[in-house]
Amino acid sequence: MKGKSILLGISGGIAAYKAAELVRCFVKAGASVQVVMTKNARQFITPLTLQTLSGQPVGSELFDEQAEARIGHIHAARTTDLMVLAPATANLIAKMAAGIADDYLTTIILATTAPLLVCPSMNVKMYEHPATQRNLATLRQLGYHVMEPESGYLACNEEGAGRLPGLPAIFETAERLLTAPSLRGKRILVSAGPTWEFFDPVRYLSNPSSGKMGFALAAAAARRSAQVTLVSGPTSLVPPRGVDLIPVTTTAEMQAAVDGLAARMDVIVMSAAVSDYRPVEVAPQKLKKTAGELHITLAKNPDILAGLGCSKPSGQILVGFAAETENLVENATEKLVKKNLDLIVANNLKQSGSGFGTDTNAVRVIDREGHATDLPCLPKMEVAELLWDRIERLLEDRAPHGTS
Ligand code: C5P
Repeated sequence: MKGKSILLGISGGIAAYKAAELVRCFVKAGASVQVVMTKNARQFITPLTLQTLSGQPVGSELFDEQAEARIGHIHAARTTDLMVLAPATANLIAKMAAGIADDYLTTIILATTAPLLVCPSMNVKMYEHPATQRNLATLRQLGYHVMEPESGYLACNEEGAGRLPGLPAIFETAERLLTAPSLRGKRILVSAGPTWEFFDPVRYLSNPSSGKMGFALAAAAARRSAQVTLVSGPTSLVPPRGVDLIPVTTTAEMQAAVDGLAARMDVIVMSAAVSDYRPVEVAPQKLKKTAGELHITLAKNPDILAGLGCSKPSGQILVGFAAETENLVENATEKLVKKNLDLIVANNLKQSGSGFGTDTNAVRVIDREGHATDLPCLPKMEVAELLWDRIERLLEDRAPHGTS
């Protein structure tokens, strides 16, 4: 979103007050935001609030002498990377479906060629009305991206569909629309999180993996329009939008899920912190505390990634992670070779800001030729973007000449 230009159109519904927070989210993410309001929207929220938050004058008059000196509506329509309409009222949606351009906002909507995201918000009966549903279908046919409103308690004291979609959902969809679809048509499998290996019904062996790196990888690939399946051990994270989540608990479950999908994948990234061992026996009841020591015998779990490396179809890209506390490069390179990987992402668990549970990661990426690239300590989402840039280059190298 950094450096992108977003035009936020606000129409006159009670959810207009939420647009202020949306402006803040976009600005915080580095976008330049130009707000355009309908006359009715100004009854709900003042242009001054939105001007202060966006740092730019708010447009609302079609025949504003100053703005029209350079044909303001056409200029605004041309210079934006994305238009977001939030809230989009039944009236605005109806005008858009009919191609009406009778104010500043609807004129820009007709003039722009940028992707356009419609975030409906209205009373449930207005939303369900066949005319509104027909108009929304028309907008979809015209190529606009229409979000589903949320269901719940509405400002008019009624219950049902019609609430403005949640701001995180709007933000994420906007981000996806601003991202080039460089992984379109690619099937991608990402594993994430820890696995839990129970030794009685309420206790297990595991590790502190949060799943953040794998979830960031899945979200970033989905944003680039890949078809993403995320096989994840237990985490407290919200699954990224547009990703198929397969939740698992144990290594055996993760192996079954991954092996069942692997053959048809273009790229597999195993970022899960898989438990290498599992208790041989699982007690049927909670183990009682006794005076002496408790011994648990562990059996080796299958190495899922090594198995994938053995049966890797030609052209598939296989990426592993190596979390190490010593001899980072030597150990990671050994795994790359032994598991037949194309890339390995090594991180030093002893380095601060890197590894389990943190929001950042500092990794070294090693390829089959032995080239190692150090990435600085960055938020996991940025690490994910850089890893996909690297994987995309590998996919390009593999593609038959003239295709991608
Ligand atoms: O050998 P090590 O466990 O350090 O290798 C780490 C890589 O192997 C990670 O990509 C991890 O997801 C994967 N792995 C696996 N199955 C295991 C252990 C690790 O797929 N049993």
